[in-house]
Order: sequence, then C-alpha cells, then structure tokens
Amino acid sequence: VLLLNIHHTAVAVRDLDEALSDLAAQYGVVPQHREVIIEQGVEEAMVAIGGSNLQLLMPLGDDTPVGRFLSSRGEGLHHVAFQVVDIEAALAHLEESGVQLVDRVARRGGGGHRIAFVHPKAFGGALIELVEVS
Ligand code: CO
Repeated sequence: VLLLNIHHTAVAVRDLDEALSDLAAQYGVVPQHREVIIEQGVEEAMVAIGGSNLQLLMPLGDDTPVGRFLSSRGEGLHHVAFQVVDIEAALAHLEESGVQLVDRVARRGGGGHRIAFVHPKAFGGALIELVEVS
C-alpha cells in the first residue's frame, strides 16, 4: 500500500461551533471547509495545519457511529486518515492480507474524496481511514 501522508487526524466533539471557537482561541486556526454528510451522520470541519489537517466530527444524532462513540467514550481522538494513491488497490491489498475492514468498497467522504475505514481491531485499537483525494 502506498501511503502519501497523514491526510487528517479526527476528533469527535459534541459541539462543533464550540470546538472551532476553542481551536481559534487556543491555536489561531480556522476551518477551510465545513460540511454536513448525511450518509455518515456527521457534520465535519477541516482545519489545515501544516501539511495535514485536523478534522472535527460532530454527530447529527445519538444513533449514528460518532454519536455512539461519544456515548461510550466521550469526546476525543476518533481516527487517523492515511492518504493513499489508489484506494481500490489499498483495499484489495488489505483484504488479501486478512485485515478486517469496515468498508470493503470505497464511499464518498467529505470534500468529495473517496474514503474507506479499516477496523480498529486490525491495528492497535485505532480506527484508520483511507483517503484517495479527488
Ligand atoms: Co476522517
């Protein structure tokens, strides 16, 4: 799998406006992009930091993946996203290697990029997202 960089690190928050306001006050950074993604049940904001991004995720409801994450674990680090050259090739390689995937097929993520999640059981309990930038 050819990894290009860490595309973003994601933090789950209960209140996106408050989190963005905290980031602006503490680090002087503001989001470049903000988007509601109905299929994922989240509103997300992307804040560019150096060559990578911080992604803030706020659930649209309790009965969503991020809503359930907040209920069980509270706010905090949610996933790390690796930018890949070819997401189909990456998924095929991981599946052949016996890696447990959340998504066997890439889907649309924020910013129109193609994404897929790898199960946290596969690596250190960390949820990994693959991103092919389009
Ligand atoms: Co993400």
